Amino acid sequence: MDGPITPAEAQRLPTTAEGPLPAYRARVAAGVLRADSAQELAAETLQDLWRRLRGYEPRQEEPDKPGGGFMSRFFRRKPVDEAPGNAPQGLYMVGEVGRGKSMLMDLFFDCADVPRKRRIHFHQFMQECHARIHAWRKQNGHDADPIPPLADSIADDAALLCFDEFQVHDITDAMILGRLFEALFAKGVVMVATSNTAPADLFKGKPGRDAFLPFIHLIQQKVAVLYLQSAQDYRRDRIHGLPTWHVPADGRAERALDNAFYELTGQRHGQPKTLAVLGRQIEVPQAVGGVARADFDALCGKPLGPADYLAFSTHYHTLVLDGVPRLGPDNFDRARRFITLVDTLYEHRCKLVASAAAVPDQLYEQGENAAMFQRTASRLMEMQSQDYLGLPHLT
Ligand SMILES: Nc1ncnc2c1ncn2[C@@H]1O[C@H](COP(=O)(O)OP(=O)(O)OP(=O)(O)O)[C@@H](O)[C@H]1O
Ligand SMILES: [Mg+2]
Repeated sequence: MDGPITPAEAQRLPTTAEGPLPAYRARVAAGVLRADSAQELAAETLQDLWRRLRGYEPRQEEPDKPGGGFMSRFFRRKPVDEAPGNAPQGLYMVGEVGRGKSMLMDLFFDCADVPRKRRIHFHQFMQECHARIHAWRKQNGHDADPIPPLADSIADDAALLCFDEFQVHDITDAMILGRLFEALFAKGVVMVATSNTAPADLFKGKPGRDAFLPFIHLIQQKVAVLYLQSAQDYRRDRIHGLPTWHVPADGRAERALDNAFYELTGQRHGQPKTLAVLGRQIEVPQAVGGVARADFDALCGKPLGPADYLAFSTHYHTLVLDGVPRLGPDNFDRARRFITLVDTLYEHRCKLVASAAAVPDQLYEQGENAAMFQRTASRLMEMQSQDYLGLPHLT
């Protein structure tokens, strides 16, 4: 091969058919990833799961035949808490930020030879669950139990579910998780997840935790917990030394943002994505995993509000934002949205790389919200600090 291989070329190395461990080693050999013994160990565990999952389909109960009668159905039925015998134990990867959990899970997911597989951000998965429960109740009334049909529809879509950033903050999520996952595991769904929180610490210190404990016990039984104890925060490493605020927003700044996106994702361009929020849709021009790229107008030139920015900030840990203009009375709505966007990014510890017409302090000097912008400017300054860049994303 002539010259060093680029990360994009490495992504296409024909190793996915052999599993995540050879794929990981190929990326290390190509210089795309640095050798890391903790990651290698995790890749070995993932390789083992990959092998056990080849061609995986949960063993089905015999379908009820029409005319089979109640008694024959009754006798065929398995106990609900018994997973199909061929379901391998899943994996829950926990570790500090930037250790490579998502990178490893994505490699595993790309390699996984499972006919029905799905990778989703956990927060988005929960939102989908609430939306489906809501729709089910509208059709069937509030007395009907929405969990069994919800589990059926999820298990119909995927026998392997990979969750990025598994986290439970919300009591309404905590309340449905136990029964939902019991039903999913009983259907042979295999779960792989990344998280900053060990299962035993999920929903810790929150009111209602006692009722949540059976879910924790279930997870501990159905997935192996792997601590990714890499010493390195690779994200901070990659973003370190990359200036995160580029002034002015000219061609040079655009190239710097191209470079930042490439450094953070290994790809020159992302895919367009749509996030569904409360029945509305947010168009994200480009994304790869947890990194999004958008120009200022895509996020602040449209009538988006706090709920949209909240969905965005829980879904993406890093935003590469092109072309923040000078703000003032002429673009009042855009300025107001930008303030909300920055507040939300900050609250969720999202990382921001941007090009702008001015440094934060000089971005919004006149107009109704100029005083309020002082706090935004101060946050924008803090978001460039190495301490901030090392904080975990809050989902
Ligand atoms: N061995 C490595 N060499 C170089 N870069 C790496 C290595 N491992 C991971 N990275 C890169 O570091 C960045 C952070 O990795 P990743 O997003 O997988 O971390 P994470 O553990 O999921 O973090 P978080 O807990 O914040 O979600 C990514 O851009 C990833 O490609
Ligand atoms: Mg991650």
